[in-house]
Amino acid sequence: MPKRLATRTQRLTGTPRNLARLAAALRRGDLVAVPTETVYGLAGNALDPKACRRIFAAKRRPTNDPLIVHIHELGQWDALAEVPPEALLVAGAFWPGPLTIVLPKKPVVPDLATSGLPSVAVRMPAHPLFRRLLKTCGLPLAAPSANPFGYLSPTTAQHVLDNLSGRIPFVLDGGACDIGVESTILDLRNPRRPVILRPGAIHADDLSRVLRCAVTPYRGKKTPPGSTAVAPGMLEQHYSPRTPLVLVGRATAATFKSLGSGDALVLMAKPTRRFPVPSGASVRWLSAEHDPAAAAHSLFTCLRKLDTSGHSRILVELPRGRSALAEAMRDRLTRAAAKTRPGTDVSPE
Ligand code: TXA
Ligand code: MG
Repeated sequence: MPKRLATRTQRLTGTPRNLARLAAALRRGDLVAVPTETVYGLAGNALDPKACRRIFAAKRRPTNDPLIVHIHELGQWDALAEVPPEALLVAGAFWPGPLTIVLPKKPVVPDLATSGLPSVAVRMPAHPLFRRLLKTCGLPLAAPSANPFGYLSPTTAQHVLDNLSGRIPFVLDGGACDIGVESTILDLRNPRRPVILRPGAIHADDLSRVLRCAVTPYRGKKTPPGSTAVAPGMLEQHYSPRTPLVLVGRATAATFKSLGSGDALVLMAKPTRRFPVPSGASVRWLSAEHDPAAAAHSLFTCLRKLDTSGHSRILVELPRGRSALAEAMRDRLTRAAAKTRPGTDVSPE
């Protein structure tokens, strides 16, 4: 089991002084949890294998699940990856933003960061505080989501502290993340056959328009536990609360009636009729049908709250619709509900 840090985790706001202090910590090889427009990340110097090792240890993430490298400006990309013109095209359209691009890696990127894969995932984030930190430290920063491996991603600094307090020295508090679900991952290793490895706020159709070719979802095998994920967003079970999560079809009177004491039901729209809620059960709703952005923004917060309030089950409707965020939420919820556990202890403390 990784050692606990003796120091308590410091939560810092983004003053110029604090940013300078955090940049110095990153240059020394320390870790800083950072806000991004998608979810909070756990950042460390991507070029320093020791810092990368600390990231895996703090998250209890198996080293066969590679890290995303974050950059501040396009000029940093060439040093890390073989960048084809197609990649520059999509980066021009969507960076800074919630898009991660996978390309063949250059030797400067430590094998540990990419779990031995010959490719590297790179993203230029949009969050202003994280951007200032990237600029101040002048390093590419490896940053997976700042949650214990397998658990729900954090979308506030408090979520990070709830799971990683005492295991990391710093969290930079940038408020709640705008988007609330992780970036779209686009595999451009073969620029003529772009593949989405993980759906996010940037839709395949938007990428298709820019690339002028079909962009298809990954259709390969799910990653078996313990092996290096070539399409790691494809871990069958991930993003899970500790409370069993069960997907339900469109909730009807029968769904409400079947709720047991201790069950929580999450609906994707405000119910149009009032159904009686059995005693001891609770019902929440997100606005996924009318406002997928608002629903994505609060999805993980909602699941975390239910997960820490003693429910026996969380029943969730799947959002409908073709929007990028509805697709991303369906993807995360389906994985959260999957019964296969990866070959690692995923329970947060
Ligand atoms: O929005 C996001 O992407 C957030 C913020 C912090 O940037 N990061 C994030 O990182 O979600 P993480 O590590 O939780 O998820 C990144 C996914 C993992 O499933 C990983 O396996 C995959 O990206 N990945 C990393 N490097 C890869 C590579 N070379 N090829 C394919 N997938 C890769
Ligand atoms: Mg993650």
